[in-house]
Amino acid sequence: MSGSHTDLRQAFEQAGQGHVFRFWDQLDESQQSNLLSEAAEIDLEEINRLSDTLVMGGQEESFDSDGLEPAPYRAHPSNGGDAALWQRAREVGEEALRGGKVAAFVVAGGQGTRLGYNAPKGTFPVTPVSQKSLFQVFAEKIRAAEIRYETQIPWLIMTSNANYEATVEAFEQADYFGLKKENVRFFRQGRLPAVDGKGKILLEDKDSIAMSPDGHGGSLRALVRSGAIAEMKKRGVSTISYFQVDNPLVHCIDPTFVGFHLMEGSAEMSSKMIPKAYSTEKVGHFCTQNGQTKVIEYSDMPESLQEAKDAEGKLRFIAGSIAIHVISVDFVEKMGGDNSDLNLPFHLAHKKINHVDEAGKSVSPQKPNGYKFEMFVFDALPFASDPVIIETRREDEFSPVKNAEGLDSPKTCSEDQLRQFTRWTLAAGLDLATDVTGLPAIRFEVSPLFADSEAAFVEKWNSLEVKPEITDGTVLS
Ligand code: UD1
Repeated sequence: MSGSHTDLRQAFEQAGQGHVFRFWDQLDESQQSNLLSEAAEIDLEEINRLSDTLVMGGQEESFDSDGLEPAPYRAHPSNGGDAALWQRAREVGEEALRGGKVAAFVVAGGQGTRLGYNAPKGTFPVTPVSQKSLFQVFAEKIRAAEIRYETQIPWLIMTSNANYEATVEAFEQADYFGLKKENVRFFRQGRLPAVDGKGKILLEDKDSIAMSPDGHGGSLRALVRSGAIAEMKKRGVSTISYFQVDNPLVHCIDPTFVGFHLMEGSAEMSSKMIPKAYSTEKVGHFCTQNGQTKVIEYSDMPESLQEAKDAEGKLRFIAGSIAIHVISVDFVEKMGGDNSDLNLPFHLAHKKINHVDEAGKSVSPQKPNGYKFEMFVFDALPFASDPVIIETRREDEFSPVKNAEGLDSPKTCSEDQLRQFTRWTLAAGLDLATDVTGLPAIRFEVSPLFADSEAAFVEKWNSLEVKPEITDGTVLS
């Protein structure tokens, strides 16, 4: 037994987690080394603190309505916002982009369980005709911005431990979708062990710990630990454009949003909102409390508040979070640094966790038997100075793929893309038949490299000497 191995086992014994090595003598050398490397990843002090406070102590932050108010936001010009201000913000953002100060960042470490898709979610085929993957759509949007602003845009991609290799492989195979390989940086998010109801670490197998990703909030730590932030600073990047992997409509790079964030001067993290479609829509709510901005998940906010109306009869807590943020590099460094005392809270998820029992028998539980710990990135907002929240239009920017069927499914997302492409073609003066929801009778597709917004489409279309016919199956690229 090597010295460091003995130390590690002793540390686990002392922390009351010695059972992790229960099957040690039955393991061959490679299994032992697997177990050791997983054990070495665990911050025992952290996991025991989380077990004591959250699992056994029931101390997860509970909902508190005291002083809770809807967060103010900048209305979109189509909804009464100041068009001149939006234009100014756009110019400020464009300047930052031209100066190479902005990076794109997608969190892609989720497990895609609800979609029932086993490969990395970013490889899910999503466009209506050519079935481009989510990653390809984002890559083309980023490339379009690089061309427009004659700049380089680094793209940071956070994966989980489990989907890292498959994600990199997908990019390799696609030749980075036309992006420069050196501008794309992958890194893994952290992971934590799952525990049982007594706070004991669960073993997935005799030689392996039941580890799970630490939530998208783990991105702040992972950005720092992976060296991505150091690289961004070296490249002169000051601002990160954060988005989720599930939403192909997202403006990966939005100069106006970046501009609003920068114009505030001291803003450390800013967010986009959409008005909720109905009171109980399953999105987080932007609120303020004690001078801080925060997001309260639908599952944590009492229905009476989700449904509350203002004097004009509009939903009072109307600002829904669609998980699109702009974050300053310095703020990530401050929040995610190893010595940071600004810690994001952990949330508990009660789950069914496959494990081996004391006798070494595999168990696939029928009911939740254990707990996973996750951080949420929006929990950084209360720590951020002067967050700006701007409104965006749902039809322009939000149609996630989350479920295999029904709401937020591949079907609804494909239809929303078709409606968007149709609005663009109508704005350019073309004639396309649609149903009452704006859905065209044909399927066609506009590549972000052809146009990535209505204005860009109209400009491009007008500049074409020979205009292609748009029929069923057309792909404008
Ligand atoms: C999330 C938000 C919700 C928001 C909605 C908008 C939470 C808790 N809720 O819900 O406020 O209204 O999106 O679509 O976030 N991810 C990782 N690592 C992880 C976990 C997740 O990278 O450990 C990534 C996923 O790949 C995905 C994103 O985070 O890109 C969102 O994760 P998911 O768990 O699907 O969030 P939702 O419950 O859909």
